[in-house]
Amino acid sequence: MQKTILSGVKPTGKPHIGNYFGAMRQFVELQNEHQGGYFFMADYHALNLIQNAKEMRELTLGVVIDFLAIGLDPKKSVIFKQSEVLEHTELAWIFDTITTVPYLKRAHAYKDAVAKGGEEDVSAGTFTYPMLMAADILLYSPDIVPVGQDQKQHIEFARDTAEKFNRIFGETFGLPEAYIIKDVETVPGTDGRKMSKSYGNTIPLFATDKEIEKAVLSIVTDSEGEVPKNVFAIHSLVKSKTELEKIYEENKGKYKILKDILIEDLKNFIRPLREKREEIAKDLNFINKVLEEGKGKARAVAGQKMEQVRKAIGVI
Ligand code: TRP
Repeated sequence: MQKTILSGVKPTGKPHIGNYFGAMRQFVELQNEHQGGYFFMADYHALNLIQNAKEMRELTLGVVIDFLAIGLDPKKSVIFKQSEVLEHTELAWIFDTITTVPYLKRAHAYKDAVAKGGEEDVSAGTFTYPMLMAADILLYSPDIVPVGQDQKQHIEFARDTAEKFNRIFGETFGLPEAYIIKDVETVPGTDGRKMSKSYGNTIPLFATDKEIEKAVLSIVTDSEGEVPKNVFAIHSLVKSKTELEKIYEENKGKYKILKDILIEDLKNFIRPLREKREEIAKDLNFINKVLEEGKGKARAVAGQKMEQVRKAIGVI
């Protein structure tokens, strides 16, 4: 059965291969399997972190280009900017009113923010982040929301919020499912921890050859083991386990050789993506046309759902 797919990406920095294998690659697979989907730049989510207009514009444009470079197809999919569809923030407010403070305090993202800087420094926008995300999702009635493992709880919040709204105001929203690829739930970074910008252990998705070399040479290896676990883990993203087992068996303990092979394999994987991205980035007319069309289609769907919501709550 054909399903409706939806996902968003926060424009906060360059994507890395962890973002790609953990989430973005699935966008393309699901788009192709289900003849399209909704994919947007979550610029209002990013506003919690990016509070500089120039940076916001550049990073948001960057994400559209990333989307197109990895293979999202504007003929099939609706690609748009969250801020251009006002219904997202409107519905987020409505969700805020039916959600309690202790419930939002359970969010991992909120807890992490508190752990990092103390509660005094957490913005109200960070606190209510899951309600804007619930609005993003529920406006489009998706069946499947492909996300990285770290976003799973947010999808559960969206489901809970849909159920709560339906209970109070009558059946309005369908319940979305999170979709997480089982064998790549967490992509390891160069230090073996989860690949994440905040750990500084990433390999950029559109890295230059030099950046690839630098990142791979910095992979932390365990001096005792015969198989450098972190090198192998990253390698297995771009080469099959059977091929790898042979290579790692033949080069037992030869970390430099294994890293060189990984460098070559990553270069071959990344080069075509990077070149495609460079091509697309040159064509601003095309990018603007994609966004214009995406905005129109997204507004039509979100607008209809909001009509239903406004009636259900009695403001019209
Ligand atoms: N919170 C997501 C992230 O940080 C981005 C996002 C915003 C999103 N709204 C969404 C993802 C709706 C899926 C669906 O990665």
